[in-house]
Amino acid sequence: MSNIRVLNGAIIGFGFISSKGHMPAYQDRMKQVGDVKIIAICDICFERKMQIPNGIRFYSDYVELIKNEYMNLDFVDISTHPADHFKIAKLAIEFGLNVLCEKPLTISIDESRDLIQLAIQSRKVLFPCHNYKFSPVISSVREILKSKKIGNVHAVTIQTFRNTHGIGTEEWIPNWRRIKDLSGGGIAMDHGSHSLYLAFEWLNSFPKTVNASSQNFSSDKSDKYDTEDNFSAVYEFENGIANIYLSWTAGVRKVIYTIQGEKGAITVEDDQIQTSFMIPSVSNNINHKAEWKTITSIAPSEWMDSGHKTWFNSMFDEFKKTIVENNFQNPELVNAYYCVQSILKAYESIDNNSSKVKFENNFL
Ligand SMILES: NC(=O)c1ccc[n+]([C@@H]2O[C@H](COP(=O)([O-])OP(=O)(O)OC[C@H]3O[C@@H](n4cnc5c(N)ncnc54)[C@H](O)[C@@H]3O)[C@@H](O)[C@H]2O)c1
Repeated sequence: MSNIRVLNGAIIGFGFISSKGHMPAYQDRMKQVGDVKIIAICDICFERKMQIPNGIRFYSDYVELIKNEYMNLDFVDISTHPADHFKIAKLAIEFGLNVLCEKPLTISIDESRDLIQLAIQSRKVLFPCHNYKFSPVISSVREILKSKKIGNVHAVTIQTFRNTHGIGTEEWIPNWRRIKDLSGGGIAMDHGSHSLYLAFEWLNSFPKTVNASSQNFSSDKSDKYDTEDNFSAVYEFENGIANIYLSWTAGVRKVIYTIQGEKGAITVEDDQIQTSFMIPSVSNNINHKAEWKTITSIAPSEWMDSGHKTWFNSMFDEFKKTIVENNFQNPELVNAYYCVQSILKAYESIDNNSSKVKFENNFL
């Protein structure tokens, strides 16, 4: 008899990311590992029911799904627009469920703090989808940093270029990312978490201050659009600095990261990683010039697939491990909290002529 623990789940919000990324990954996992089963799906758009695989129960109200199904479930996967994450996650935790939640965790600092406190007090796992951490290219960077080739990191630059904002499923509100009441903000709220949790990992700390600015360059200027499409911020950490630039109008889809250490640097351009580092000197001659070496490697990461299906199951492994180990205070919670705080403090700076804004250190 198999002793694999099968986790029963429900997806709430069956739009782009859950139908193109999460669900296909769950289906692969069910076939290959057999440790997850999606038994119910909720979407407020009844038309999305047509996209649901056979044998899965459909709800158009998340409250009804949670109240009817909580006895059959181990977790819910929240994949709605950000403004609804808090209320859905809160109800799920109150009904005794673990929660996997798309980024950003919430759209306010208070909501993030309240939700994290509720999860810890209720002894339930709350786990943000910080999926870039699980991409092959970021895993390779992690290995290079562990090798100490570039020494301690003191600066990172994180640039994400896109041709457009992400377009949601056409049956709902495809341009919700441009409407603040639904998204909580523009590209900083949408993509900022990915840049920030990578910065936290590489600098091995959290920011203390931020100066930020934003612009709106889209030619597509509906009166209803009130979110930024270009964002630039400098975050000061105790041990370094992070410079983040995000654009939905860059004319190209690409990421370029640099991680700068005391003995070298790593440069990432999509799948390509270049590591430049100083070769330790064997000479005692003070005139001996340090030699540098550059190694280039490729970590195919399917960056062009914005559903990131291939990264999902490594992240789900971590979510499952966190449940199995009852790790209710998992480190991703602090990361999620600081992501939300970093985005909102940057907006505060933008509202105050890009002046420097200090962080609150009151995590819990
Ligand atoms: N981690 C990543 O790489 C990544 C990539 C894309 C999107 N996302 C995140 O996924 C989430 C969804 O983004 P998307 O692009 O899939 O958007 P989407 O618009 O395609 O999907 C959202 C779905 O939620 C449904 N919905 C809205 N409110 C609901 C409610 N109260 N109850 C049930 N269903 C509801 C909508 O009808 C829609 O089908 C966002 O938080 C976004 O930031 C993450």
